[in-house]
Amino acid sequence: MDACSACILLLTLIHVLSIVSAHDFLSAGSSLSVEHSSDVLHSADGTFACGFYSISPNASTFSIWFSRSSERTIVWSANPLHPVYTWGSKVKLDVDGSMVLKDYNGQIVWSNNVSASDAGHVQAQLLGNGNLIVKGKGGAILWQSFDSPTDTLLPTQRITAPTKLVSTNRLLVPGHYSFHFDDQYLLSLFDDEKDISFIYWPNPSRTIWEKLRVPFNSTTSGAVDTWGHFLGSDNATFTAADWGPGIKRRLTLDYDGNLRLYSLDKAEGTWSVTWMAFPQRCKVRGLCGKNGICVYTPVPACACAPGFVVIDPSNRSKGCRPKTNISCDAQKVKFAKLPHTDFFGYDMTVHHFVSLDFCTKKCLHDCNCKGFAYWEGTGDCYPKSVLLGGVTLHNLGSTGTMYIKIPKGLEVLEASIPQSQPFGPKYGPDCSTTNKYFIADFLDTLKRDQSESKYLYFYGFLSAIFLAELMFVVLGWFILRRERRELRGVWPAEAGYEMITNHFRRYTYRELVSATKKFKDELGRGASGIVYKGVLKDNRAVAVKKLVEINQAKVDVYSFGVVLLELLNGARASDMENNEDEEVEMVLGRISRMVKEKLKLDGNGSEQSWIADFVDARLNGQFDNLQARTMMRLAVSCMEEDRDRRPTMENVAQMLVSVDDVSSANVTVGVA
Ligand SMILES: *[C@@H]1O[C@H](CO)[C@@H](O)[C@H](O)[C@H]1NC(C)=O
Ligand SMILES: *[C@@H]1O[C@H](CO)[C@@H](O)[C@H](O)[C@H]1NC(C)=O
Ligand SMILES: *[C@@H]1O[C@H](CO)[C@@H](O)[C@H](O)[C@H]1NC(C)=O
Ligand SMILES: *[C@@H]1O[C@H](CO)[C@@H](O)[C@H](O)[C@H]1NC(C)=O
Ligand SMILES: *[C@@H]1O[C@H](CO)[C@@H](O)[C@H](O)[C@H]1NC(C)=O
Ligand SMILES: *[C@@H]1O[C@H](CO)[C@@H](O)[C@H](O)[C@H]1NC(C)=O
Repeated sequence: MDACSACILLLTLIHVLSIVSAHDFLSAGSSLSVEHSSDVLHSADGTFACGFYSISPNASTFSIWFSRSSERTIVWSANPLHPVYTWGSKVKLDVDGSMVLKDYNGQIVWSNNVSASDAGHVQAQLLGNGNLIVKGKGGAILWQSFDSPTDTLLPTQRITAPTKLVSTNRLLVPGHYSFHFDDQYLLSLFDDEKDISFIYWPNPSRTIWEKLRVPFNSTTSGAVDTWGHFLGSDNATFTAADWGPGIKRRLTLDYDGNLRLYSLDKAEGTWSVTWMAFPQRCKVRGLCGKNGICVYTPVPACACAPGFVVIDPSNRSKGCRPKTNISCDAQKVKFAKLPHTDFFGYDMTVHHFVSLDFCTKKCLHDCNCKGFAYWEGTGDCYPKSVLLGGVTLHNLGSTGTMYIKIPKGLEVLEASIPQSQPFGPKYGPDCSTTNKYFIADFLDTLKRDQSESKYLYFYGFLSAIFLAELMFVVLGWFILRRERRELRGVWPAEAGYEMITNHFRRYTYRELVSATKKFKDELGRGASGIVYKGVLKDNRAVAVKKLVEINQAKVDVYSFGVVLLELLNGARASDMENNEDEEVEMVLGRISRMVKEKLKLDGNGSEQSWIADFVDARLNGQFDNLQARTMMRLAVSCMEEDRDRRPTMENVAQMLVSVDDVSSANVTVGVA
């Protein structure tokens, strides 16, 4: 009896001590104050922390963040619009379960609005999934932060009809993009303009069948599971490229209007994108405002249509205004031709199979017509009442030509026509080209350094690949091929290495055995090995090639060459040219012949600027010309049409090792 009560006393003491020191819980009557940096709640495993976050020297928000990322990543904030003073402010939990945030002067800035009459033993706790809860009698949840997300959904956190994500900038100021259910109960991305909001994802021009969604399911719900798969009640679904357990993730509606799924690299504390709603960022609605055109430089930037000037250089979404008023009189206007450019929506009408002349006249004589898109070939004509969502792409065939109404007297210089340069600026960084575009506050501009270092890492890693690993690279290529239908049309310059590297996952032998059910279903046989059918854990079907004698990437090194070329160019093979109808193999053949031809000419000491054009622009020219050339040569030799002329894997490995320290001597490439 005595022993038992002593034991209970001890347990209670330990419990009390733990509250006081570690802040695993906040008990009724206690508070967290802004000036004690130790005043934070931690989740049990230390992944999340909750407390005051200072957004500027004098202003703080009550927030939840990842404590293990190198930069503090906020996932929830109570008071993003009303930060409190960094001195004297506190958040207090009361016996009735109410949690109240007060500014230094006692003003209530935020409350969880709980007032339970018989709340019992009230406690606030930060759960392992990042959910801040207030518990009452019998552990009942009186309030939880998961019910009021800001710009981020954490795995297992549900988005439902009453909730929405709103984009916020680094100071946590909300932007004009949001993610929530629409009136048909479809999860959508909205661009909330002054009085109207527009849906820009899923693509509004698609039918419900094409969207693969199920409307009118009033049980609204959607969540990312712990493996990185999102499923909504409307059948909205997507999967992280690194799908699998044990990875910390977040789904964030970023300030640039793109919805991205991120994974945390535990060792480095950095985030990488594993899925995004818009691989082509220029397609996010209204990025450049009225009369603005999104161009790839190769990072997305905003430009004005010729004859227009920027309204506010610090805010791209305000768009551009005409330099001089455009008259209604057909005699006083003309059209400026913008190749490979399109503006989305605001079609006054659509004409099919008409001539350019017909389309021009239609727009010319309609005062409300600001310009028109014309598609050669099909003769489609789209007169526009508003010029919004402008984007210029690089390749023929993917857009029509845009004709914009301008005053007759205005001279349009070739240089003032926005043009995308997906493989980097073609011309030197002279003032005229830089001034033409204003690089806006796109997210990835800030993240450039990170992806570049990633690239270098991967580049280095490649040279260390040895024979056994080639099997996995080959497998990666097979997976890539399987996915190319969905990924087709991804703009080369922007998907980023994070995405690309994430598509190469190494599989252990054991995983492959299990995927192929111990190499059971034979799909075909080649000289180099047998190809088996397999199914990965996420139900993706893959072909697994088991190499017979890998010591001899006579192994079929073609795929390896492709991967190498992709790494050099910074784009997936399927994206190097945007031609929907052409098989990837044909595109590759053409590119490889082109590279081979140029390499040959190079030998004669001709200019080498084409290398800089070909190599990923994000390296900013910071690469070794000789290394790049050697790797190119290796890639094209692996892709030789005549199998016998391809190098053996042994040659390949030797050459990769030699590339690692080439800066001194000229390397002669030995091709078997
Ligand atoms: C912060 O507050 C102090 C005291 O009110 C003031 O003197 C200082 O200018 C403020 N700093 C900023 C950056 O607003
Ligand atoms: C609490 O109530 C106020 C006033 O009705 C409201 O503005 C606020 O959003 C509510 N807070 C929460 C967390 O629901
Ligand atoms: C639900 O989504 C999946 C995957 O996108 C698709 O295969 C399926 O057809 C969709 N179902 C409906 C009813 O659209
Ligand atoms: C509606 O959504 C709920 C929740 O996701 C799901 O369980 C249910 O099957 C859906 N109903 C239909 C008809 O799709
Ligand atoms: C930029 O302009 C848009 C549209 O005029 C406005 O809604 C937004 O608040 C502005 N953003 C900033 C940061 O000023
Ligand atoms: C354009 O027209 C508006 C009114 O319609 C006028 O206020 C403005 O000054 C004109 N701008 C120019 C450059 O003529």
